[in-house]
Amino acid sequence: MNIGVSGASGNLGQAIVRELQARNNVHKIIAISRTPKSSDGVEGRVGDYDKPETLATAYAGLDKVILIPTSDLRPGMRGSQNEAAIAAAVAAGVKHIVLLSAAGTREQAEPAIGASYWRGEQALIKTAAQWTILRMNYYAEALAQEAQSAAQSGMLTGFAENKVAFVGREDVAAAAAGIVLGEGHVGAIYNATGAKSYTGAERAALLADIVGKPIAFAAIPVDALKGGMAQMGLPDFVINAVAGIQQDFANGAFDVVTGDVEKLAGRAPQDLRDVLAANLK
Ligand SMILES: NC(=O)c1ccc[n+]([C@@H]2O[C@H](COP(=O)([O-])OP(=O)(O)OC[C@H]3O[C@@H](n4cnc5c(N)ncnc54)[C@H](OP(=O)(O)O)[C@@H]3O)[C@@H](O)[C@H]2O)c1
Repeated sequence: MNIGVSGASGNLGQAIVRELQARNNVHKIIAISRTPKSSDGVEGRVGDYDKPETLATAYAGLDKVILIPTSDLRPGMRGSQNEAAIAAAVAAGVKHIVLLSAAGTREQAEPAIGASYWRGEQALIKTAAQWTILRMNYYAEALAQEAQSAAQSGMLTGFAENKVAFVGREDVAAAAAGIVLGEGHVGAIYNATGAKSYTGAERAALLADIVGKPIAFAAIPVDALKGGMAQMGLPDFVINAVAGIQQDFANGAFDVVTGDVEKLAGRAPQDLRDVLAANLK
């Protein structure tokens, strides 16, 4: 079987390729992106979501493909890329298409940050013969990235107290590999989550303990968060994307805990403390 990973040279894509290599020595792995890398047992192919003609060649002959959306936050871009990738995979006759999506995906219009995932999920369900969706919770690694500024200001901020079931990127990768290497996942929507949801106060305390500095959770108004980012010179579309994620947090979109990582990966998800500690060394 030929298994493609589209978006393979990014953080998540590399982790998925590593998982596929570690878990199988039978199937061929094809790593696809604009700057693909070939390695032992892995064929690199050029495939650009913004140039659909390249995807026809990239997806040719694949039995299964894992589609990883890009980090392109410009309004409309990622939704169009997701739709183009799905159309190309269907046209290429890929038998089973697996889409990485996000927790809490629901009907949303552009430029909402979640619209790209909604558009991708809808296109997949409507056009692919065999599909699986793996919705990611918020990365534990992304929380670790916030630790430095939180340690400096003493504050981890959000619009309201909220709960998030942070998941390690390696766990998402292991779950995705489990889907394409296993059976019985067609038509399923899974949620890759950590084992527990953490309140703002709980995760601030965890970060404080790891970095050895006081950090408290503080609810701040939307305008204060947006104003702070504008002062840092960030473009509007990035500010709106970050605010959109914080709004999703406040609405409980990421307060979803499932056993899907263990079911798909065959091992329990990593503990949030362990992922944070490893990333904050
Ligand atoms: N849930 C969360 O907490 C969370 C946190 C961070 C990210 N994410 C999302 O998770 C996904 C993967 O994250 P990541 O950290 O792995 O992202 P990443 O490191 O930025 O990787 C993105 C991948 O997409 C490829 N790519 C970019 N533009 C492309 C295009 N036009 N056509 C084809 N491939 C393209 C890149 O490779 P080339 O440059 O070689 O094309 C790369 O392989 C993204 O959707 C990101 O927004 C979620």
